[in-house]
Amino acid sequence: MVPVHYIESGAGTPLVLLHAFPVDARMWNPLRIRLEEQARVITPDQRGLGESSLDGTTARGMIEPPAAPLTVDRPSVEVAAADVLELLDQLELPRVVLGGCSMGGYVAMAVLRAAPQRVAGLLLVDTKAPADTDEQRTNRLNVASRAEQEGTGGWLAENMLPNLLGSATRQERPEVVGDLRALIEAQPADGVAWAQRAMAARSDSFETLRAFDGPAMVAVGAEDTITPPAAAHEMADALPSGKLVELAGSGHLPSLEAPDALADAVRPWLAGIDV
Ligand code: MLT
Repeated sequence: MVPVHYIESGAGTPLVLLHAFPVDARMWNPLRIRLEEQARVITPDQRGLGESSLDGTTARGMIEPPAAPLTVDRPSVEVAAADVLELLDQLELPRVVLGGCSMGGYVAMAVLRAAPQRVAGLLLVDTKAPADTDEQRTNRLNVASRAEQEGTGGWLAENMLPNLLGSATRQERPEVVGDLRALIEAQPADGVAWAQRAMAARSDSFETLRAFDGPAMVAVGAEDTITPPAAAHEMADALPSGKLVELAGSGHLPSLEAPDALADAVRPWLAGIDV
């Protein structure tokens, strides 16, 4: 377990939101400001990304001498989930509404597998339940090696931006494209490599979803090509209380692309959850 950095604001229902790859907690800021009158919004940086270190030091740039030799845990979404549970303990939150976008959704499903009693409600945004195919796994391992060899400058954002954002955002909203590029460029190579290896190792989560009978919302950008609406339908069908919301004009990252529509969908759903 490593101490993870997090951003927190607002008051009300505790809502923990886990970010996508290859960005950090700041991707949630447009949604956060729309929900913070209703929710205490807590957004951790996954280990190795944003301001969370990979190896158990505190925030990047504030490295103190370690009390014990540093180790880097084998990459897995279970390890990332254990970091989230450790944060909930630290914040003395026995139960929360848990959300995740894409990679954050994979980690949220791993939290649900490890500690379902701590999840009062589940919000899955542009993510999917199946494990990777062999081809997807190979691609991830190649990206991890390239990040370690070359760093992440330039190529990672160039390769990912066209897929992460919907066509409407790419064509009409250069400020969103610029903000996302800056977020990707800010991510350290070791954290990018660790996250890719963790995602490559993840298992299928359909059984986990079938076993969760609490309130669940599955939101998806109508223009998402990475985890398309069909993947969202599969998850909503597996969840006993799954509610599906499709967001027009958004790709894979509706918190950045369609925060008003996402917040409008989440507010009434959240209001019905008794944590
Ligand atoms: C993400 O947005 O977190 C990633 O695109 C997810 C993935 O690579 O499967």
